[in-house]
Amino acid sequence: MTMAANPDAIAFRGALGAFATGVTIVTTRDGTGADCGFTANSFNSVSLDPPMVLWSLARTSQNMEAFRGASHFAVHILAADQEALSNGFAKRGADKFAGVEVERGEGDLPLLTGCTARFQCRTAYQYEGGDHIIFVGEVIAFDHEDRAPLLFHGGRYAMAARRAATLTACDPGAQRTGSFGEDFLGYLLGRAHFQLYGRMRDSLTEHDLDATDHFILSVLGINDGRTAAEIDGVIGYTGAHISSDRITSLAARDIVRTDPADRLWLTETGRRTLVELAAAAKAAEEDALGAFDENETALLKHLLKHVIRSTDPGLPDPWAAPETP
Ligand SMILES: Cc1cc2nc3c(=O)[nH]c(=O)nc-3n(C[C@H](O)[C@H](O)[C@H](O)COP(=O)(O)O)c2cc1C
Repeated sequence: MTMAANPDAIAFRGALGAFATGVTIVTTRDGTGADCGFTANSFNSVSLDPPMVLWSLARTSQNMEAFRGASHFAVHILAADQEALSNGFAKRGADKFAGVEVERGEGDLPLLTGCTARFQCRTAYQYEGGDHIIFVGEVIAFDHEDRAPLLFHGGRYAMAARRAATLTACDPGAQRTGSFGEDFLGYLLGRAHFQLYGRMRDSLTEHDLDATDHFILSVLGINDGRTAAEIDGVIGYTGAHISSDRITSLAARDIVRTDPADRLWLTETGRRTLVELAAAAKAAEEDALGAFDENETALLKHLLKHVIRSTDPGLPDPWAAPETP
């Protein structure tokens, strides 16, 4: 692949976006002592001995004068949950520090909290870099916390997941006609669901309940006082339907009670049962996710929510409050 001598700026930027980076916020104090900062993904390590880092700032930045004249700056590597902070510091003209918790570092440098790493630097060099100025700093202090990092790739925020050692590419050619392969999403989701749910079966059996009972109790646990038809609407995606026999059976065992408007309420026993089932479900989840780090777990759940949204035929939201009777 060759690069044009005078590449189209948008295409060039797009190609650069192929390089996945972390996201940083660089801060300093200007000549008047005011805090300033901006979001940068041009950060990079330079030298171990002496410890040095670099980043670059667009000449058009309103922060240019402050950084040009600053003896020190601080680089903050953002954590996965700091996307809003990143957006705040990428906004020109905004009061970027409003409502942001700040600690003080070398020469009163503003230090942000909740980051994965922070480097306090002495400005060592400044270089011309086309429409940017490259700042090189000697690190005089740093701290580091084991948090999942925020990433930037292809012009969008991203999250990091470790590659499984056994990650294999899907081989559609290996599939027999009319059958699905082991990478078929329905198989993967179904098998993961049944195996995870299988871990809970003992707990359900102990309470003489089945999966549909569990769905009903879970929906009532979020908000009770719903009619059977409303619960049906929420759990309909499972293929289960609530029969009047089932409600009679749950009521006979003092797990739910119905009011004159045919709304279902959890009894004391029902709530206790639900707490025990929730503990079993939590334990099953912890076992299943034991090999994942915090970031992978968040990524997995995030992607599953995507699949739920993209396949939702318009089901009611289980977490929405029921209409008041
Ligand atoms: C993820 C991300 C990375 C960025 N990286 C840089 C960078 O390395 N250098 C830069 O000059 N601007 C970068 N920007 C843009 C600046 O953050 C933004 O233009 C700047 O904050 C504008 O405000 P200012 O004029 O007050 O500096 C980045 C923005 C985002 C969202």
